[in-house]
Amino acid sequence: MTGPDDTLWTSLPVPAILIAQDGTIAEINPSAEGFLNTSARSLRGAPVWDKIMVDAPLEEAFARVRSNESPLFINDVDVSSGERAPMVCNLQIAPMQDDSGRVLLMFSPREIAGRLGRSQSSKTAAMSAIGMAEMLAHEIKNPLAGITGAAQLLAMNLSQEDQEMTDLIVGETRRILKLLQQVEQFGNLLPPDRRAVNIHDVLDRARKSAQVGFAAHMTILEDYDPSLPSTFADADQLLQVVLNLLKNAAEASGKSGGTIRIHTFYEQSLRLRRKDGTGGAVPLHVEIIDDGPGLKPEIAADIFEPFVSGRENGTGLGLALVSKIIADHEGWIVVDSVPGRTVFRISLPVAPKELETT
Ligand SMILES: Nc1ncnc2c1ncn2[C@@H]1O[C@H](COP(=O)(O)OP(=O)(O)O)[C@@H](O)[C@H]1O
Ligand SMILES: [Mg+2]
Repeated sequence: MTGPDDTLWTSLPVPAILIAQDGTIAEINPSAEGFLNTSARSLRGAPVWDKIMVDAPLEEAFARVRSNESPLFINDVDVSSGERAPMVCNLQIAPMQDDSGRVLLMFSPREIAGRLGRSQSSKTAAMSAIGMAEMLAHEIKNPLAGITGAAQLLAMNLSQEDQEMTDLIVGETRRILKLLQQVEQFGNLLPPDRRAVNIHDVLDRARKSAQVGFAAHMTILEDYDPSLPSTFADADQLLQVVLNLLKNAAEASGKSGGTIRIHTFYEQSLRLRRKDGTGGAVPLHVEIIDDGPGLKPEIAADIFEPFVSGRENGTGLGLALVSKIIADHEGWIVVDSVPGRTVFRISLPVAPKELETT
């Protein structure tokens, strides 16, 4: 690279690698050299997977970025090179806007990306923030009940006009209570009780409850591969995941409604790459696709973090819970969003043969 691009590239304080169409490393910026603890010279031209170990199905992600010409975000990925220990990162993959088929891979080490504390790993920071919030939630609930009760008592002797104020108190305390319940739900999450589960049963339950509740204004289409084998999951937790995704899709679309497509399919080629070579296959895929406005760019990279919300009354806990549950299931979640089409895809393992009932 030469010219002004060059300065831009070398100044970029984010580790970034430019990958050619054939999967070799075309360029690597100084920040990435530092991050991977290797020189650009030894990396340039080498197949990227010879040099960098990532426990995520990235070839597939690259193909998707190229064909959709839109960026992709992957959360919580272990990245290591021969020269450095694995580090948890969020990845951003973006297509180059020049028809060259090259893609830009950027790493946000979670230690740097952390929003909730700089001194320790942001993952633990976020988790301890949750722990603290949980404790607070417990402490706040009692006085909150007192406040609501007092407001309701007061209301009995007030004029209609003044009652608007007590209604406000009651309404807002109810909102706080809802937030606290979500925080507690997060903290109370048990390890999954995993069995052989028919994904479509879970999806049907989620769709039905969505359609009579928060997604009554949406059209929900099913696009299922009925031959999918069972997955190995805690059905209740999986239901929670699907409900949260449907709810976000419905909320993003606004009052006027929209269409959500639930797509399931089998795709064996997707594998998690682990450093020790044991790749857990995650061939069962569920996509929740909506035609809403898409992720707001300023939060797109952080949506799986707790307390990151792009909505007025959001708690930012929905996707954090989703991400935790999917990780507990040794699965994957990927989001791919452009205005008019947002896809959340979860990828799950197949139930062990001896558990398969159908
Ligand atoms: N399908 C979607 N379309 C557009 N934006 C979305 C979608 N799903 C999630 N988001 C964005 O991600 C944010 C975080 O979602 P979530 O963790 O569920 O928290 P909350 O719904 O409480 O805001 C949302 O506030 C919204 O801005
Ligand atoms: Mg939500």
